[in-house]
Amino acid sequence: MLIHSSSQLLTLQGGPQRGKTLGMLGIIENGAIVIRDEKIVAVGRTDELRNAYPDEPTLNAGGCVLMPGFVDPHTHLIWAGDRANEFEMKMGGLTYLDILAAGGGIISTVKATRSASMETLMAQTRPRILRMFAHGTTTAEAKTGYGLQTSTELLLLKALLALDDESPLDLVFTFLGAHAIPPEFKDNPQGYTEEVTDTMLPMLKEWWGTHAPRLPLPFVDVFCETNAFDLEQSRQILTKAGSLGFPLKIHADEFANLGGAVLAAELGAASADHLVVTSDADIAALGKSDTVAVALPCTPFGLAERHYTPAKKLLEANAMLALATDCNPGTSWNESMQFAIALACRYMGLTPAQAIAATTINAAHAIRRSDTIGSLEVGKQADMLILSVSDYRQVGYRYGTNLVKQVIKHGRVYSVEMGYYRTA
Ligand code: NIG
Ligand code: FE
Repeated sequence: MLIHSSSQLLTLQGGPQRGKTLGMLGIIENGAIVIRDEKIVAVGRTDELRNAYPDEPTLNAGGCVLMPGFVDPHTHLIWAGDRANEFEMKMGGLTYLDILAAGGGIISTVKATRSASMETLMAQTRPRILRMFAHGTTTAEAKTGYGLQTSTELLLLKALLALDDESPLDLVFTFLGAHAIPPEFKDNPQGYTEEVTDTMLPMLKEWWGTHAPRLPLPFVDVFCETNAFDLEQSRQILTKAGSLGFPLKIHADEFANLGGAVLAAELGAASADHLVVTSDADIAALGKSDTVAVALPCTPFGLAERHYTPAKKLLEANAMLALATDCNPGTSWNESMQFAIALACRYMGLTPAQAIAATTINAAHAIRRSDTIGSLEVGKQADMLILSVSDYRQVGYRYGTNLVKQVIKHGRVYSVEMGYYRTA
């Protein structure tokens, strides 16, 4: 298939973009692309490719922006229930950590998740996946973390594998058994840490070998935070995971600065995520590492807080910056990367071009998939978007509505066009 006559084809070519180089869109005016067998086989100008591929079936991009699909590298996609009651409490003056310390927060979702069947979990997660896809996310990372016991954590992975099979978008998996201290270990966080290192991780390795032998091992992540896992416990979990061959991620500096970002850089983690109260030492360590700094601007927004990831400092230190939704029931129930971009432009000081690179090629690198997705280059997977606008700067400028018109995933075209109202 030849997709032609885009106003701007954003290629994002050339690999992940470090520091101040962030924002190179690689624009081809009046660009076109040829897809065969789910892969990109040619990228160029419309006139060139029309001549080179005269017999190819065509899709007219109609003067719209053509760009890579969004990659969402941080979501807590699978859970049961909701926490609208806590939102009301927060808006009434309590903080997220007050609610967590009182046994609410993550633990209330853990209770709902533990008592849900696989069918219920899939039924509640499926619409989130479809909303993501309709808003242009073609690959999303998905974490477990609302089970906090081996049986439920593995059930969550099983449900995610099944959802990946049935969904148009691709999922990339993360084991977050170390998301919170479960009620059974309330006064013994070290005991739960050892449960994760000595029991859960070895079982996960074996389980993955039988349930998903052809897929790469999932990431292992830990919530390094006050009232969750301290720096030493995070180190124990990630070191053990690394020794078993799992790639690593960490939640660092969401509320307290415990040194998780330095740890991530030291251990060669794929990403360190949140990074709100990040110190200059953490920023310097990330700048010298291959660990992607993943900012989640929907989270401070969701919590009505004023502090966001210090993007400019990270870029000055030469770090690789990506954006994600953090989609979860507690701090950020949002499926749209377009909204993350709108916030990152306003509160992190990114330009639309920087935010687009942070949600495509750099986001792909945060899940270590930048060799196959995140840009429109020959040989890559045919995952792309046709937007309903002709200038990429409309992305981020406009928000709260969906600018995606068509999603092309693995070379298949899906329409997201606005319907018409009709009287019955
Ligand atoms: O990324 N920080 C920990 N995890 C989520 C919140 C999870 C929840 O509140 O349910 C986050 O913000
Ligand atoms: Fe998170």
